[in-house]
Amino acid sequence: MDPSIRALVAVEGLDAFDVQRALPDDASFTLLAMTDGVDETVRAMIKDTPDLVVVACQGREDDRSLHIIDAAHRAAPTVPIIVLAAASPNGFLRRAFEAGAADMAIFPQTKEQLRFAMSIAIARHPGQGADTGGRKDGRLICVLGPKGGTGKTLTSTNLAAALALAGKKVLVIDLDLQFGDVALCLGLPPEKTMYDLAISPGGLDEGKLKDYVMTHDTGVDVLLAPARPDQASAITIDLLRDVLVVARRAYDFVIADTPPGFTAEVIATIDASSDLVMVGTLDSLSLKNTKLGLETLSLMDYDQRKIRLVLNRADTRVGISHHDVVTVLGSEPEIFIPSDREIPRSVNEGVPITLSRPQSYAAASFHELAALFTGAEPHTAAESARVEAAAGAPRRSLFRLRRS
Ligand SMILES: Nc1ncnc2c1ncn2[C@@H]1O[C@H](COP(=O)(O)OP(=O)(O)OP(=O)(O)O)[C@@H](O)[C@H]1O
Ligand SMILES: [Mg+2]
Repeated sequence: MDPSIRALVAVEGLDAFDVQRALPDDASFTLLAMTDGVDETVRAMIKDTPDLVVVACQGREDDRSLHIIDAAHRAAPTVPIIVLAAASPNGFLRRAFEAGAADMAIFPQTKEQLRFAMSIAIARHPGQGADTGGRKDGRLICVLGPKGGTGKTLTSTNLAAALALAGKKVLVIDLDLQFGDVALCLGLPPEKTMYDLAISPGGLDEGKLKDYVMTHDTGVDVLLAPARPDQASAITIDLLRDVLVVARRAYDFVIADTPPGFTAEVIATIDASSDLVMVGTLDSLSLKNTKLGLETLSLMDYDQRKIRLVLNRADTRVGISHHDVVTVLGSEPEIFIPSDREIPRSVNEGVPITLSRPQSYAAASFHELAALFTGAEPHTAAESARVEAAAGAPRRSLFRLRRS
């Protein structure tokens, strides 16, 4: 039998009878009260101390429901709030979460779905204690490179594969809305894309997001870029922000692959991110642009401690020393990826090199990058030796770059 739930339901702009009919009707569910407006809801919360508050509403941005969520959250921050919304126009969902909502479900829902959403919200909520499966938002890693072709997509897809191999739930979002190529790199057919999500009716919740992702063999989910450049304009910044909020609730890691430059989508994603991976290559033009990118992040007040520097093609012999790199960038790259002929081959085959050549030095580099986020040891000494032996020359010259 399901654990019992004592819920308070605040109704705003919906028919109270319709809402009541949608609620679970089994013996383990207790409807403490249905309330109307901020004051009545807060009073009932204080009187009844519910396990959960449901705010059933239209889902308009100017909706009074946002005030109810805010007041309910302030009155009892340990009580999870689920928003049951008939629609979630751009921006509503994010504001609901900002106001204190724990989760969002689309109205109408089946009784079973709603019951499930309630149980999850209660289990995840920090106020319910550590042993109930309470879960924090996942990390949002924005993969950035100020110029085209530095290896952003290579890094995004291989970092995702490495994290999935480490047992993490991972979503990749292809933010190169016009010319995204994550699908190609992972060998996924563009059956469902972000465009389909954008033009679909109704609001956004975890279940709906998952309906629009493609799943790779590694278990990595991917929200693909639109199949055609003209579809890119359907993806608004507000929708993107909402997708990022919902995605972080559903995955351990959300990796955003970006187009070159600081487009509006990229800036919104940087703002929402918990971490940033800056990918540069070893040539003077790319280093200059990487430095400009780092300076732009600094102007945006981005916390420099959250930036991981990756140097791609790090073994290329172009007369730039390790010392030059550190002098130009002002800090030391943490991860070095070698040039490897197998990389273009793996891109053409649609299999990330972490999977197609797991013993290559390039694969080891992506495991090292993943380990920066998981805190795990990327390789045991024996594995490192095996990787070194298998990778041969690239590792030796990388090594020289690191020490010279
Ligand atoms: N270390 C490497 N060794 C060999 N080839 C590489 C390496 N890094 C990237 N490439 C090749 O360079 C090309 C560009 O890489 P990628 O698509 O990852 O760059 P990007 O930064 O995402 O580019 P864009 O800005 O166009 O999205 C790919 O074809 C990839 O195979
Ligand atoms: Mg790319």
